[in-house]
Amino acid sequence: MEEIVDEVLISEKKLQARIKELGEKITTHYNQDDEIVMVCILRGGFLFMADLAREVKLPVVLDFMDVTSYEGGTTTTGDVRIIKDLEESIEHKHVLIAEDIIDTGLTLKHIIKVLETRNPKSINICTLLDKPERRTEKEVEVTWNGFEIPNKFVVGYGLDFQEKYRNIPYIFVPKPELYKK
Ligand code: XMP
Ligand code: MG
Repeated sequence: MEEIVDEVLISEKKLQARIKELGEKITTHYNQDDEIVMVCILRGGFLFMADLAREVKLPVVLDFMDVTSYEGGTTTTGDVRIIKDLEESIEHKHVLIAEDIIDTGLTLKHIIKVLETRNPKSINICTLLDKPERRTEKEVEVTWNGFEIPNKFVVGYGLDFQEKYRNIPYIFVPKPELYKK
């Protein structure tokens, strides 16, 4: 991987340690008899939700949603579309969104707007990564945040570059040469 990794931003060990902490916080936030639907935002959130869910010691229901917010490049176009909706009803249930990264906040703003119309009991966001410098949607409130990162394009642990490298178990900044290929 040396040929594409410029800098390892968050190692596998750090990721796993932080996810364990997030799981503990979430576990104490809810009650054992709460009805909770954990929502993974595909595709980037799939590894994060898999690991986080195992650290949440509550009887959660897992569901998946796929949205698209930009077309292949590295910046948001502002156009957010639901490609795959939830299977579960979230009415009167607690929704816990597991997201890979919040950049401008536009994607989550849109998702929350849609989910709120379905009358859930609560909506909380747990994001692995946050780029606070890039936030334009100030009203999107993150309940749990794994790591605040600088405004750099990052890849690995669910995050892709042109659909590749999602399976790399750490978060890295790719070499600029990668974009030129
Ligand atoms: P917004 O701007 O709507 O963007 O908060 C959130 C979505 O944008 C993608 N994103 C990234 N994907 N490396 C990636 O691979 C990045 O550094 C990055 N920044 C934003 C991601 O899909 C996220 O859900
Ligand atoms: Mg992507």
